[in-house]
Amino acid sequence: MDLHSKLLIDNNNISELLLLTYNEAIEFLKTLNERPTNNNLSSIETFELSENGLGAKQTLELFTKHYSAFITGSAGPRYLGFVTGGTTPAAIIGDWLTSVYDQNASDKSSKVAANIELSAFEMLRDLFGLPKIFNGNFVSGATMSNFVGLAIARQWWGKQHNVKVSETGLTNLSKRLYVLSASPHSSIYKCLSMLGIGRESVQLIPTLPQREAIDVTALEKKLQEIQEPCIVVANAGVVNTVDFDDIKAISRLKEKYVFYLHIDAAFGGFAACSPKYKHLLSGWEEADSIAVDAHKWLNVPYDSAIELTKHLDLQVEVFQNSAAYLTEPNYLDAFHRTPENSRRLRALPALFTLMAYGKIGYQEIVERTCDCAIFLGEKIANSSFFTLLAPVKMNVVVFTFNQTNITSDQITYFLTCLCQNGKTFLTPTNYRNRPAMRAAFSNWRTTQNDVEIIWQAILEARESITL
Ligand SMILES: Cc1ncc(COP(=O)(O)O)c(C=O)c1O
Repeated sequence: MDLHSKLLIDNNNISELLLLTYNEAIEFLKTLNERPTNNNLSSIETFELSENGLGAKQTLELFTKHYSAFITGSAGPRYLGFVTGGTTPAAIIGDWLTSVYDQNASDKSSKVAANIELSAFEMLRDLFGLPKIFNGNFVSGATMSNFVGLAIARQWWGKQHNVKVSETGLTNLSKRLYVLSASPHSSIYKCLSMLGIGRESVQLIPTLPQREAIDVTALEKKLQEIQEPCIVVANAGVVNTVDFDDIKAISRLKEKYVFYLHIDAAFGGFAACSPKYKHLLSGWEEADSIAVDAHKWLNVPYDSAIELTKHLDLQVEVFQNSAAYLTEPNYLDAFHRTPENSRRLRALPALFTLMAYGKIGYQEIVERTCDCAIFLGEKIANSSFFTLLAPVKMNVVVFTFNQTNITSDQITYFLTCLCQNGKTFLTPTNYRNRPAMRAAFSNWRTTQNDVEIIWQAILEARESITL
């Protein structure tokens, strides 16, 4: 049977097709800074599967005609929703090549891919100033990174009771597994659900007054009360206020109590890039595992994060994937260490951006984005319309209206009006029982000038509504 005609033509015309794609990509990047951060699409046109296929050129033409204009500037400088990074030029190069090379970065038989991943991981570990005792791999996001850390924690906990949870499950364990944390990210609950530990295993520890950081005395009290091995999830960068738990004080408790320490440092891990902020992570090298996102402050495209762990043996017990046609379980193969089997070489964009911009480049990105948050925070603090709900610690501004008794519906209404004009994008939150909103900075493109535009948009939206 001959190759399908459309495939044949496309293969013969690959240079032209990639040039057309390049043109589309350049057009997008040229307009990214000015692209609306939001679109008001109520529905999007869908295409139908044709009998014979359209070929790549016509597909690209149709796609750009129908979709390009609606791709939002969420990768641009004024999108402040959630914690959203962009993509550095070098990361784009790495990402394009990842698709072209199409390596399955799952086992060391693909030696180049495994080495690229190891090299990118080692650079990140160096950027974070973490010791070599940490091993790690790339996963698809901080949720999966938390999942890997907590899966290892579950295996560790079983071991404390002489049970291999990876083999016999949790049913043989009559003990209760406690997960102690003060302000865990929602993904921690999701991971506990996926791991069969259950969301209700979380015991919320009080925070320090006016803070989202854990009260370490209260944590110690709980550990005394439990008197059992357990899991502590420390937070290095809470989404509302970027508060950090005192990791050093928490890890000191390990001298007296038996617990596994996992740190969710999805974006706060990047504090390590700056002499101004790295003290916030003091003691994090004592963790058993750490989760850090790459598609946030590293500014590589979705989907990318790393998991760091000191317990490779337990990790392989959990994730090993033996079969006659695969390699024997060993510590080097990613498919024996992470949830996926086959996986994309998502380390390549990270490798490119780390090589291209180095430690100083990332210090500059982190400090500039934090300065932008501080600048917006000052404007809010000096305004007669808004109240800053917490000092700006790093890259997130959490604020609300001056009036008391503001409802979450009013916040939603305001944010809808604000986001409609496409100049910026903020998301709602709730802080200390007050409906509020937050602006999170982590895109390498954002400058003070963007903050002026964002502030103008916020003022205009405020003036256009009655509360
Ligand atoms: C502290 C923290 N943990 C975990 C996550 C989950 O990250 P992801 O969406 O990459 O899975 C986030 C995302 O914002 C986060 O801020």
